[in-house]
Amino acid sequence: MVRAAKSLGCTCAVLDPVQGSPAGQLAGHQIVGQHSDPAMVRELAAACDVVTFELEDVETETLIQLEKEGHKIYPRPGLLAIIQDKLSQKQFLRDAGIPTSEFIEMPVADAQAFSEFGYPLVQKARRGGYDGRGVAVMQDEQAFARHLPLAGFVERFVDAEKELAVMVARNPHGECKAYPTVEMRFHADHNVLDFLLAPARIAVEVARRAEALAVQTVEAMDGVGVFGIELFLTRDGQLLVNEVAPRTHNSGHHTIEACVTDQFEQHLRAIIGLPLGDTRQLAPATMVNLLGDPGYEGRPMIAGLAAALAIPGVCVHIYGKAVTKPGRKMGHVTVIDETIDKACDKTNKVKGLIRVLGDKPL
Ligand SMILES: Nc1ncnc2c1ncn2[C@@H]1O[C@H](COP(=O)(O)OP(=O)(O)OP(=O)(O)O)[C@@H](O)[C@H]1O
Ligand SMILES: [Mg+2]
Repeated sequence: MVRAAKSLGCTCAVLDPVQGSPAGQLAGHQIVGQHSDPAMVRELAAACDVVTFELEDVETETLIQLEKEGHKIYPRPGLLAIIQDKLSQKQFLRDAGIPTSEFIEMPVADAQAFSEFGYPLVQKARRGGYDGRGVAVMQDEQAFARHLPLAGFVERFVDAEKELAVMVARNPHGECKAYPTVEMRFHADHNVLDFLLAPARIAVEVARRAEALAVQTVEAMDGVGVFGIELFLTRDGQLLVNEVAPRTHNSGHHTIEACVTDQFEQHLRAIIGLPLGDTRQLAPATMVNLLGDPGYEGRPMIAGLAAALAIPGVCVHIYGKAVTKPGRKMGHVTVIDETIDKACDKTNKVKGLIRVLGDKPL
């Protein structure tokens, strides 16, 4: 985003707890502090014409106060407060008539109440969930033993044929644009994202419906900025909104190389109030995250980089985080090719080539 800001002639100040954070390195102006520290958030707002965030878990109280004092903050802090509590997000979707799986509040996990709701179900935490950590999929009563011991809700397990995502941008004038629908492919055995396909391998009619539903969702939220709308496509062709990310999103990273306007520039255009950019995709693309290897910590070392870069169409992004940890997102790779199948083949090759090791074996 800082890079995109520079190409629009803007400068950025970054608030991040780690000195020399990836965004701070590029911006050249970092405030070192916690996103939950009101004094730090105030210092940031004082330095900027417009404030935004790229993670949900930010303290909203200070942001709401700053907005009252006249600071421009997008997406609006009131909306962030609704979205960051997954239960209030679900209630919002339901009340707005957006299709989403049925759910009931579950302040404490209770075996009886789970059974009455009925299995298979999914238990979710209200707050702090990220990358699946606040989510427990339970097929039957035996699975209750693995429940999350926290406040949340349960929802119907969706027997999804595919998981889709649509990035949507909207500016304060109400202009709203969607990117082409993408598909998230998951590992057959464990529930982790394998890689992303853009565009999704679905009928054009389904893609148009997904994009229309994503736009409807952001409009219902009166959202300003870029939003990632995660969707389920059920086996009988229904689309359900799983959740909304009020920020640039993992399922929009391919837009850097594959689309006329990337999601980061698009987000800036939206929050500054400029016309939105062209969301057309110019070539099929796949994207895979580069996660820290399970066997290492410490200073990252990228093995297999040269071999991956030798393949035409392979675009590597290393984020410049100082320390790797098992499973930590350290970068991503986008592959561009003439067809999505060719891009998938190359992605599988790249996955076998690149590993993020560290200088401390575990
Ligand atoms: N109702 C459901 N039915 C079936 N699978 C589900 C359901 N809810 C969630 N999942 C599965 O769990 C994954 C993570 O759930 P969700 O997106 O709600 O959580 P998250 O913590 O935000 O994860 P992430 O950060 O990876 O998006 C989904 O992508 C999906 O594979
Ligand atoms: Mg999700």
